[in-house]
Amino acid sequence: MINIKNEHEIKLMEDAAVALKAALEVIEKEIKPGVTTMHLNNVAEAAMKKHGTIPAFKGVPCPYRGGVDYKWAICTSVNDEIIHGIPSDKVILKEGDIVSVDLGTYKNGWCSDAGRTYGVGKISPVCEKLIKVAKDAFFYAVDKAVVGNRVGDISNAVQTYVEKNGFSLLREYQGHGIGEEMHEDPGVPNIGKKGTGPRLKAGMALAIEPMICEGSPEVYVKRDMWTVATMDKKMTAYYENTIVITEKEPKILTL
Ligand code: MF3
Ligand code: CO
Repeated sequence: MINIKNEHEIKLMEDAAVALKAALEVIEKEIKPGVTTMHLNNVAEAAMKKHGTIPAFKGVPCPYRGGVDYKWAICTSVNDEIIHGIPSDKVILKEGDIVSVDLGTYKNGWCSDAGRTYGVGKISPVCEKLIKVAKDAFFYAVDKAVVGNRVGDISNAVQTYVEKNGFSLLREYQGHGIGEEMHEDPGVPNIGKKGTGPRLKAGMALAIEPMICEGSPEVYVKRDMWTVATMDKKMTAYYENTIVITEKEPKILTL
Protein backbone atom coordinates (compact mmCIF):
# COMPACT_ATOMS: atom_id res chain seq x y z
CA MET A 1 0.00 0.00 0.00
CA ILE A 2 1.30 3.45 -0.91
CA ASN A 3 0.86 5.96 1.92
CA ILE A 4 -0.07 9.50 0.96
CA LYS A 5 1.34 12.09 3.37
CA ASN A 6 -0.56 15.20 4.37
CA GLU A 7 1.04 18.60 4.81
CA HIS A 8 1.67 18.13 8.51
CA GLU A 9 3.34 14.77 7.93
CA ILE A 10 5.53 16.23 5.18
CA LYS A 11 6.55 18.95 7.62
CA LEU A 12 7.64 16.25 10.08
CA MET A 13 9.70 14.54 7.37
CA GLU A 14 11.33 17.88 6.55
CA ASP A 15 12.16 18.20 10.20
CA ALA A 16 13.92 14.82 10.20
CA ALA A 17 15.76 15.91 7.06
CA VAL A 18 17.24 18.99 8.77
CA ALA A 19 19.40 16.73 10.90
CA LEU A 20 20.33 14.59 7.93
CA LYS A 21 21.55 17.65 6.03
CA ALA A 22 23.58 18.76 9.05
CA ALA A 23 25.17 15.31 9.26
CA LEU A 24 26.04 15.36 5.55
CA GLU A 25 27.71 18.73 6.00
CA VAL A 26 30.02 17.51 8.76
CA ILE A 27 30.79 14.29 6.89
CA GLU A 28 31.76 16.26 3.80
CA LYS A 29 34.07 18.45 5.85
CA GLU A 30 35.81 15.47 7.48
CA ILE A 31 36.53 13.50 4.29
CA LYS A 32 40.26 13.59 3.60
CA PRO A 33 43.14 11.13 3.26
CA GLY A 34 43.93 9.43 6.60
CA VAL A 35 40.40 9.53 8.02
CA THR A 36 38.64 6.27 8.92
CA THR A 37 35.11 5.43 7.87
CA MET A 38 34.27 4.90 11.55
CA HIS A 39 35.22 8.53 12.19
CA LEU A 40 32.69 9.58 9.53
CA ASN A 41 30.09 7.42 11.27
CA ASN A 42 30.86 9.03 14.62
CA VAL A 43 30.67 12.65 13.46
CA ALA A 44 27.44 11.88 11.60
CA GLU A 45 25.88 10.27 14.64
CA ALA A 46 26.87 13.21 16.84
CA ALA A 47 25.32 15.67 14.36
CA MET A 48 22.10 13.64 14.24
CA LYS A 49 21.87 13.59 18.04
CA LYS A 50 22.59 17.30 18.27
CA HIS A 51 19.58 17.92 16.05
CA GLY A 52 17.29 15.70 18.09
CA THR A 53 17.13 12.73 15.73
CA ILE A 54 18.27 9.15 15.93
CA PRO A 55 20.03 7.23 13.15
CA ALA A 56 17.25 5.49 11.22
CA PHE A 57 19.56 2.72 9.99
CA LYS A 58 20.23 1.29 13.46
CA GLY A 59 18.24 -1.88 13.93
CA VAL A 60 17.50 -2.50 10.24
CA PRO A 61 17.44 -6.30 9.92
CA CYS A 62 20.04 -7.87 7.64
CA PRO A 63 18.54 -8.97 4.32
CA TYR A 64 20.78 -12.06 4.32
CA ARG A 65 20.86 -15.13 6.53
CA GLY A 66 23.33 -14.98 9.36
CA GLY A 67 23.86 -11.21 9.29
CA VAL A 68 23.41 -9.00 12.36
CA ASP A 69 20.91 -6.12 12.53
CA TYR A 70 22.53 -2.92 11.28
CA LYS A 71 24.26 -1.22 14.21
CA TRP A 72 25.73 1.90 12.65
CA ALA A 73 24.47 5.42 11.88
CA ILE A 74 25.64 5.47 8.27
CA CYS A 75 26.86 3.17 5.51
CA THR A 76 30.30 3.84 4.04
CA SER A 77 31.12 2.02 0.82
CA VAL A 78 34.59 2.55 -0.66
CA ASN A 79 35.48 2.27 -4.39
CA ASP A 80 34.15 -1.08 -5.70
CA GLU A 81 31.82 -1.29 -2.72
CA ILE A 82 28.56 0.20 -3.89
CA ILE A 83 26.16 0.13 -0.94
CA HIS A 84 25.72 -0.99 2.68
CA GLY A 85 29.43 -0.80 3.60
CA ILE A 86 29.93 -0.97 7.37
CA PRO A 87 32.01 1.83 8.93
CA SER A 88 35.28 0.56 10.40
CA ASP A 89 38.29 1.98 12.19
CA LYS A 90 40.38 -0.30 10.01
CA VAL A 91 39.25 1.36 6.78
CA ILE A 92 41.45 4.41 6.27
CA LEU A 93 40.56 6.61 3.33
CA LYS A 94 43.41 7.43 0.98
CA GLU A 95 43.95 9.90 -1.82
CA GLY A 96 42.10 8.79 -4.96
CA ASP A 97 39.42 6.73 -3.15
CA ILE A 98 35.76 7.45 -3.56
CA VAL A 99 33.46 6.84 -0.63
CA SER A 100 29.70 6.51 -0.82
CA VAL A 101 27.93 7.62 2.32
CA ASP A 102 24.31 6.67 2.96
CA LEU A 103 22.39 7.84 6.01
CA GLY A 104 18.92 8.16 7.46
CA THR A 105 17.39 10.09 10.34
CA TYR A 106 14.29 9.43 12.41
CA LYS A 107 12.44 12.05 14.44
CA ASN A 108 8.93 12.18 15.94
CA GLY A 109 8.03 9.03 14.05
CA TRP A 110 9.19 10.14 10.58
CA CYS A 111 12.22 9.25 8.43
CA SER A 112 14.50 10.75 5.85
CA ASP A 113 17.12 9.00 3.74
CA ALA A 114 19.94 10.26 1.48
CA GLY A 115 23.31 9.32 0.04
CA ARG A 116 26.29 10.84 -1.74
CA THR A 117 29.59 9.69 -3.20
CA TYR A 118 32.59 11.85 -2.31
CA GLY A 119 36.11 11.91 -3.70
CA VAL A 120 39.07 11.69 -1.30
CA GLY A 121 41.68 14.24 -2.41
CA LYS A 122 42.42 14.08 -6.11
CA ILE A 123 40.46 11.36 -7.93
CA SER A 124 40.64 9.86 -11.43
CA PRO A 125 38.59 11.27 -14.33
CA VAL A 126 36.43 8.14 -14.44
CA CYS A 127 35.60 8.54 -10.74
CA GLU A 128 34.72 12.19 -11.33
CA LYS A 129 32.42 11.11 -14.14
CA LEU A 130 30.78 8.35 -12.08
CA ILE A 131 29.97 10.80 -9.29
CA LYS A 132 28.54 13.33 -11.72
CA VAL A 133 26.47 10.79 -13.66
CA ALA A 134 24.92 9.34 -10.47
CA LYS A 135 23.97 12.82 -9.32
CA ASP A 136 22.66 14.02 -12.69
CA ALA A 137 20.66 10.78 -13.08
CA PHE A 138 18.87 11.63 -9.84
CA PHE A 139 17.92 15.07 -11.15
CA TYR A 140 16.67 13.68 -14.48
CA ALA A 141 14.56 11.27 -12.45
CA VAL A 142 13.18 14.05 -10.26
CA ASP A 143 11.99 15.88 -13.37
CA LYS A 144 9.70 12.90 -13.98
CA ALA A 145 8.42 12.76 -10.39
CA VAL A 146 5.23 14.65 -11.11
CA VAL A 147 1.54 13.94 -10.67
CA GLY A 148 0.14 11.73 -13.44
CA ASN A 149 3.46 10.09 -14.35
CA ARG A 150 4.27 6.58 -13.17
CA VAL A 151 7.16 5.06 -11.22
CA GLY A 152 8.46 3.59 -14.50
CA ASP A 153 8.98 7.11 -15.85
CA ILE A 154 11.39 7.77 -12.97
CA SER A 155 13.17 4.43 -13.50
CA ASN A 156 13.43 4.97 -17.23
CA ALA A 157 14.93 8.46 -16.80
CA VAL A 158 17.69 7.02 -14.60
CA GLN A 159 18.37 4.07 -16.87
CA THR A 160 18.43 6.08 -20.10
CA TYR A 161 20.83 8.70 -18.78
CA VAL A 162 23.21 6.31 -17.02
CA GLU A 163 23.44 3.86 -19.91
CA LYS A 164 23.92 6.69 -22.41
CA ASN A 165 26.99 7.62 -20.38
CA GLY A 166 28.39 4.10 -20.63
CA PHE A 167 27.75 3.02 -17.04
CA SER A 168 25.50 0.29 -15.64
CA LEU A 169 22.94 0.09 -12.82
CA LEU A 170 22.43 -2.24 -9.90
CA ARG A 171 19.42 -4.41 -10.61
CA GLU A 172 18.96 -6.10 -7.24
CA TYR A 173 18.54 -2.89 -5.25
CA GLN A 174 16.19 0.01 -5.74
CA GLY A 175 14.74 3.21 -4.35
CA HIS A 176 11.61 3.10 -2.24
CA GLY A 177 8.69 4.88 -0.67
CA ILE A 178 9.53 6.41 2.71
CA GLY A 179 7.63 7.94 5.62
CA GLU A 180 6.95 6.45 9.03
CA GLU A 181 9.05 3.53 7.79
CA MET A 182 12.42 3.77 6.04
CA HIS A 183 11.21 1.42 3.34
CA GLU A 184 7.62 1.69 2.18
CA ASP A 185 5.80 1.02 -1.08
CA PRO A 186 6.35 1.60 -3.92
CA GLY A 187 9.73 0.20 -4.92
CA VAL A 188 11.52 2.64 -7.23
CA PRO A 189 13.78 0.63 -9.57
CA ASN A 190 16.60 2.31 -11.46
CA ILE A 191 15.68 0.36 -14.56
CA GLY A 192 12.27 0.38 -16.21
CA LYS A 193 9.89 1.32 -18.96
CA LYS A 194 8.06 4.61 -19.35
CA GLY A 195 4.36 4.51 -18.53
CA THR A 196 4.58 1.43 -16.30
CA GLY A 197 4.22 0.93 -12.53
CA PRO A 198 2.14 2.78 -9.93
CA ARG A 199 0.81 6.22 -10.81
CA LEU A 200 2.40 9.13 -8.94
CA LYS A 201 0.15 11.19 -6.67
CA ALA A 202 0.67 14.33 -4.62
CA GLY A 203 1.79 13.43 -1.10
CA MET A 204 3.86 10.38 -2.09
CA ALA A 205 7.33 10.44 -0.57
CA LEU A 206 10.06 8.58 -2.41
CA ALA A 207 13.76 7.88 -1.96
CA ILE A 208 15.23 7.94 -5.46
CA GLU A 209 18.70 6.42 -5.56
CA PRO A 210 20.72 5.69 -8.69
CA MET A 211 23.47 3.14 -7.83
CA ILE A 212 25.84 3.02 -10.77
CA CYS A 213 28.81 0.92 -11.84
CA GLU A 214 31.77 1.70 -14.07
CA GLY A 215 31.79 -1.87 -15.42
CA SER A 216 29.46 -4.82 -14.97
CA PRO A 217 26.56 -4.46 -12.49
CA GLU A 218 27.21 -7.96 -11.16
CA VAL A 219 27.68 -7.75 -7.40
CA TYR A 220 28.30 -9.99 -4.40
CA VAL A 221 27.75 -9.57 -0.67
CA LYS A 222 30.88 -9.60 1.47
CA ARG A 223 31.38 -11.85 4.49
CA ASP A 224 30.01 -9.18 6.84
CA MET A 225 26.66 -9.98 5.16
CA TRP A 226 26.05 -6.28 4.44
CA THR A 227 28.61 -4.77 2.07
CA VAL A 228 27.63 -5.04 -1.60
CA ALA A 229 30.59 -4.81 -4.03
CA THR A 230 31.13 -5.32 -7.75
CA MET A 231 32.48 -8.67 -8.97
CA ASP A 232 34.81 -6.98 -11.46
CA LYS A 233 36.19 -4.67 -8.70
CA LYS A 234 35.45 -1.61 -10.79
CA MET A 235 34.34 1.67 -9.27
CA THR A 236 30.80 2.63 -8.27
CA ALA A 237 28.86 5.73 -7.25
CA TYR A 238 25.59 6.51 -5.60
CA TYR A 239 23.29 9.47 -5.09
CA GLU A 240 20.03 9.57 -3.14
CA ASN A 241 17.52 12.05 -1.79
CA THR A 242 14.11 11.87 -0.19
CA ILE A 243 11.55 13.72 -2.29
CA VAL A 244 7.84 14.49 -2.03
CA ILE A 245 5.51 14.68 -5.02
CA THR A 246 3.31 17.77 -5.00
CA GLU A 247 0.75 19.33 -7.32
CA LYS A 248 3.61 21.51 -8.58
CA GLU A 249 7.37 20.80 -8.55
CA PRO A 250 8.66 17.85 -6.54
CA LYS A 251 10.09 18.89 -3.20
CA ILE A 252 13.58 17.56 -2.36
CA LEU A 253 13.78 17.25 1.43
CA THR A 254 17.41 16.21 1.89
CA LEU A 255 19.23 18.72 -0.30
N1 MF3 B 1 19.52 3.85 2.66
C1 MF3 B 1 19.37 2.48 2.32
C2 MF3 B 1 18.27 2.45 1.34
O1 MF3 B 1 18.11 3.40 0.69
C3 MF3 B 1 19.12 1.64 3.51
C4 MF3 B 1 20.32 1.26 4.17
S1 MF3 B 1 20.14 -0.26 4.87
C5 MF3 B 1 20.76 -0.07 6.39
O2 MF3 B 1 17.53 1.55 1.16
F1 MF3 B 1 20.60 -1.14 7.03
F2 MF3 B 1 21.98 0.27 6.31
F3 MF3 B 1 20.07 0.83 7.00
CO1 CO C 1 17.14 4.63 0.46
